[in-house]
Amino acid sequence: MRYSEAMEKQQEFLLAGVIGWPVSHSRSPALHTFWLNEYHIKGAYVPLAVAPENLLDTLELLPRIGFSGLNVTVPHKEAVFAFADKLGVADRVARRIGAVNTLIFERGKIVNATNTDCIGFIQNLISGAPHWKPAKTRALVLGAGGAARGIIIGLIDAGVRHITILNRTRAKAEALAEALKDEPCEIRVDDWNECNVDLSQSNLLVNTTTLGMHGQENLNLNLTDLSKDAIVTDIVYTPLKTKLLQDAAARGLTAVDGLGMLLHQAAPGFEAWFGMKPQVSQALRTHVLMGE
Ligand code: ATR
Repeated sequence: MRYSEAMEKQQEFLLAGVIGWPVSHSRSPALHTFWLNEYHIKGAYVPLAVAPENLLDTLELLPRIGFSGLNVTVPHKEAVFAFADKLGVADRVARRIGAVNTLIFERGKIVNATNTDCIGFIQNLISGAPHWKPAKTRALVLGAGGAARGIIIGLIDAGVRHITILNRTRAKAEALAEALKDEPCEIRVDDWNECNVDLSQSNLLVNTTTLGMHGQENLNLNLTDLSKDAIVTDIVYTPLKTKLLQDAAARGLTAVDGLGMLLHQAAPGFEAWFGMKPQVSQALRTHVLMGE
């Protein structure tokens, strides 16, 4: 059988997956499989444990054996970006974030490398806080890792023009602000002092650190100075209601949990690989949470 003929047959069964090292913690297989079943699509989404030394071989091979694309998770996001950027297939969002979480393959090649974390964050924020007004937002972002960078790009693209970054290691916050200096947004850096963070100037508080996650210390902020219309959101979703979100809800603030970001970031990949725009429903949230 000719290669092209064999591939055509293969592509009647659509294949995608997530590469990470390790990968067993990933919720992506559960959520994509839920959608595949919901929409009666013939295909599979599989977890692939790819050690760093096998990364480049994997990126060469999977497009050629019929995969439609991949999600990329820790620790590969930056290395995949570097590879895709060299090939000239990294899009503008991926280039501004310096990391890739979604790859799309066609005819045996990578044709697009993007990052959907930023749009996932924004869509989750909008669905949890429909009254949110980006142009009137003064955001305080806690943390300066890869997640913070994606979220800041998302905020800027949504129209936010004032962002302050606070990070335990101030130098990392400064490096991030420097990397984003050409963005159309005022980005300031302040000292991290958990007991005494000035919240009076902010109306959107975003935790991108790992504080509050199961097995980690809680984030103990005094939210008294946040204005009544402020929104508080956390990217931590294990537990779903972090101490930060509980404190925010207790003060009557809008509190948006982090699970929706995971669900919304998955949708563009699913649509590209499986040809159907999926819905983020309550049933999906429950299904993914049950894996906790
Ligand atoms: P990610 O790519 O998911 O953002 P990361 O790059 O490891 O992950 O970033 C984790 C963030 O959580 C960092 O901002 C980190 O602060 P440092 O840059 O000072 O390491 C923050 N973080 C982790 N543990 C923390 C703690 N105990 N207190 C304060 N910040 C913490």
